[in-house]
Amino acid sequence: MSKEIVVSGIRSTGFLHLGNYFGAMQNYVKMQDEYNCYFFVADYHSLTTHPDPKDLRGNVYRVVAENVASGLDPEKVALYAQSDIPEIPELYLMLNMLAYKGELEKVPTFKDKVRLQPDNVNAGLLTYPVLMTADILIHKAVKVPVGKDQEQHVEMARNFAHRFNSRYSEMFPMPYPFNYGDSLIKVPSLDGAGKMSKSENINATLYLADDDDAIRKKVMKAKTDAGPTEHNSEMPDYIQNIFQLMHLVSKPEITDTFRSAYNNCTIRYGDMKKQLAEDMVAFIAPIREKAAELQKDEAQLQKILREGAEKARISASATIAEARKLIGINYY
Ligand code: TYM
Repeated sequence: MSKEIVVSGIRSTGFLHLGNYFGAMQNYVKMQDEYNCYFFVADYHSLTTHPDPKDLRGNVYRVVAENVASGLDPEKVALYAQSDIPEIPELYLMLNMLAYKGELEKVPTFKDKVRLQPDNVNAGLLTYPVLMTADILIHKAVKVPVGKDQEQHVEMARNFAHRFNSRYSEMFPMPYPFNYGDSLIKVPSLDGAGKMSKSENINATLYLADDDDAIRKKVMKAKTDAGPTEHNSEMPDYIQNIFQLMHLVSKPEITDTFRSAYNNCTIRYGDMKKQLAEDMVAFIAPIREKAAELQKDEAQLQKILREGAEKARISASATIAEARKLIGINYY
């Protein structure tokens, strides 16, 4: 039986963090044995925010290195740069004819970007979900492992796939967001406000490249309070966040001990943060070290990208040939 197809991407806009790891990469690593996987660096998507050209290469290499350091095996999956697959922008162009300005303007991530960068509201930003749709449909993917923040984009990909199928012919399966747990994950930031992010909340985000001291400092600064005064009281958001982070990296018995201490009002947040900091260091340090090692070997990273693109183009070119034919672009 042929394996189900999986696609997911990560923008090359900054340092990868725990949100990327637990929202996406951890699933990639688990999926690589069971599925036919296409994972890529979304370098075209990163151009929406106008990065300095001299940073692009290093950013792309780092995303590749951090994925491999986290356990992704380029022999088992296609790991490539989006810009190495010319069929993606071709499908994007076709899909743009089926995407409407009004619906794109309503997307919350677009509205956020308009607020954040009012001087650069470019058409690429508006059609961001269309390019994402092309990334997914180019391999006819079904499962798309992403964090909670990308859920709506994948919903839009379903809409566009459906629209293409209705206009031309049933060609694309319906993709849906995927996570091994019960629901999609949002890894919270350490300051109790929002989520970990590549570019915002830098001091409240734990990056896979952070050194041990930086990790300890950031964790120890996490927002807490004087502690509960009544047994089994409800946890404020920022305390829930610390428990959630602990749940991700610490042994279950450790989290349970602190949870009981919370419930009977004996918790000492200083001790809890110290424990969390050490468990974070133990989790991040090996990934950081392996990724740093890999980034020294540019030839190896280039080989991974080249071979990944070769694999990805096989399925991408078959999809484009089919789409062209259905649209009527077959003149000779
Ligand atoms: P990006 O680069 O912002 O993030 C990469 C992946 O990490 C997840 N993520 C999180 N998950 C949980 N908690 C967080 N705090 C957190 N922050 C980020 C994201 O959900 C994502 O899975 N538009 C996409 C890249 C993309 C893509 C695609 C993804 C382009 N084309 C096609 C899937 C399929 C993005 O900017 O992700």
